[in-house]
Amino acid sequence: MNGETTTMANVLAVLTSGRRSGFTSRLLDAAAEGAGSIQGVRVDVVHTHGFSFGPCVSCFECVREPESACILDDDMGRRGEGALYRRIAAANALLIGDAVHNWSPSASARLFIERCYPFLWNGALKGMPSATVSCASNQGMQRLARAELCKWLFGFRTRYVGGVAAHVAYFNRAGQQAREVGAALGRAALADAEEGRRAWDDPECFEYYVRHAPWDPLDCYIENLTDGTLDPGASVMVQALAAGTFDNAEARELLEMAQSQFVHTFELYQAGDRAGAARSLAEASAYWTHATWLEFLEPDVIGTAQPQAYRPLPATGDGPKEQGPR
Ligand SMILES: Cc1cc2nc3c(=O)[nH]c(=O)nc-3n(C[C@H](O)[C@H](O)[C@H](O)COP(=O)(O)O)c2cc1C
Repeated sequence: MNGETTTMANVLAVLTSGRRSGFTSRLLDAAAEGAGSIQGVRVDVVHTHGFSFGPCVSCFECVREPESACILDDDMGRRGEGALYRRIAAANALLIGDAVHNWSPSASARLFIERCYPFLWNGALKGMPSATVSCASNQGMQRLARAELCKWLFGFRTRYVGGVAAHVAYFNRAGQQAREVGAALGRAALADAEEGRRAWDDPECFEYYVRHAPWDPLDCYIENLTDGTLDPGASVMVQALAAGTFDNAEARELLEMAQSQFVHTFELYQAGDRAGAARSLAEASAYWTHATWLEFLEPDVIGTAQPQAYRPLPATGDGPKEQGPR
């Protein structure tokens, strides 16, 4: 890599395949090599199996005190001092190399992502460049696995630079793709280090994923909010209001706002304006998220208000905003 230049940016390359030296690790190394070929970028390759951490126990302490991170006494916890957690927090970019398991990402990758939960509440990964390598060697479904990893990284609002869906049947080509994605990630990491994290708001992030990512939130979110009907008149917001399941008056108001923004989203979606629909959806989903938080999470699960960094409400907060084509 670039021994003679000052290291300015750090890419954390996380191997989640069980095999420390296998197909996945070779592709991750190729991506790491691409990132390290960018002057000023240093790559730190870690193997999750070499760290000690288990599943999230749903204590929600990280939500109550976003700055204290996870309280579990392991490498993803220790109030932000866990060895692996610290590396993520200090990185300028995140690269995940994972083996395809059961047509999906592996359980190790899932576990790693699950334990990143505190970053949802402190917002520290918002705008962080990210990339993935999914490697299959049998039936495949590497594209499904890549989409899933991308979805998880969207959840943290990272800036997904690219992902390789690899099968060992075309290993050499995948290696070249990994180098290219790695180089793009290295460049983004350098910008992150030099210019600071380029934060983005949810509408910008939603639109970016709709335009550029192998997974985007639009279709699945619309399917989910309409409860599978693709009819905004039968949305979960409409159902909740009709069923009287929301007691909190403020939450009901937020439901109304979510519904009204969602109707607008759906119009754009039907008109084929996916980018505009994505931006509008970001706002509808923020109203919906806040409504459920107020009604269910705050009183019954967590006991505190929604952290500011998490799915912020639109600035005006006065009803559906026009999100035109961009
Ligand atoms: C539990 C398990 C499930 C797997 N499921 C799939 C699969 O759905 N599709 C596939 O092509 N390979 C599957 N494989 C093979 C792995 O993807 C294979 O180990 C990987 O592609 C090669 O990377 P590695 O050298 O890092 O192990 C599976 C392996 C394991 C251990």
